[in-house]
Amino acid sequence: MDFAIQPIGDALAGEVSGIDCRKPLSLETVAAIEAGMNHYAALVYRRQKLTDEEQLAFTLHFGEIEKKGRGSGTGHIHFRNEEQARALARGIGDFSNIDGAGKPLPPDSRAHQFKLADRLWHSDSSFRPVPAKYSLLSGRAVPSWGGNTEFADMRAAYDALDARTKHEVEDLVCRHSNIYSREVVGFSEMTEEEREAFKPVRQRLVRRHPITGRKSLFLSSHAGIIEGWTIPESRMFLRDLIEFATQSHFVYSHTWQLNDLVVWDNRATMHRGRRFDRAEARDVRQTRLAGDVVTIEQLA
Ligand SMILES: [Fe+2]
Repeated sequence: MDFAIQPIGDALAGEVSGIDCRKPLSLETVAAIEAGMNHYAALVYRRQKLTDEEQLAFTLHFGEIEKKGRGSGTGHIHFRNEEQARALARGIGDFSNIDGAGKPLPPDSRAHQFKLADRLWHSDSSFRPVPAKYSLLSGRAVPSWGGNTEFADMRAAYDALDARTKHEVEDLVCRHSNIYSREVVGFSEMTEEEREAFKPVRQRLVRRHPITGRKSLFLSSHAGIIEGWTIPESRMFLRDLIEFATQSHFVYSHTWQLNDLVVWDNRATMHRGRRFDRAEARDVRQTRLAGDVVTIEQLA
């Protein structure tokens, strides 16, 4: 089968066919996929049964794995016990809900509560000075109901702003931290070490895609303060913008099938996880590519 990308619905996503993600890609294919990412901002690959190593190898066609650092705390919060977390390949983020024995975590576990805020609209690593490029999520075990991942097109949302709002947001700078997004769901039990590691970083509210040059709203639930604004004014304005930018015509909702691989460009989208029955195991593994743009240095 030849490589092709078909649009899914009329939103920002495309479905890729003719690619085996376990095999090395030619430079031409990598370029064609990148072009597809720049056009759509999210691509779905079905029936890709991947090991961690295969997922890493596929990911590395498109850049470098994001390193931990300022804004990362202790890195990904692993749900599994230490031994199992070590068994995950280096560079793999564990976004599953299971413990070392493969059992879903109890609702009062810290890891479960910490990760719940991922169900708020966000852009991965917006709390890091250089936010992420792509995230790649592999569905190794998916629940029988719910658990969709939804994507919102921040380019289309920016384009659709009225002229007054466009002018208003143009030069605004926000402070992003994991602490702000956890606050929204009432999770405030950050350790001193985490508070230090999650010190807010500055991001422009309007960013420009490094390849396409398209402007987009750089929104995320990690954004808690607009510089020069009071906190209540900041929060209400950001909430309004997120509500506007996630109207259904900007959104693709992905219903997971076993062994789907979904890739999105954090420089052009927000996403959120949806509710599912926490008595069921959901094993999803993520690789994340380092970004290449310091938004604060971008000109309007
Ligand atoms: Fe995320």
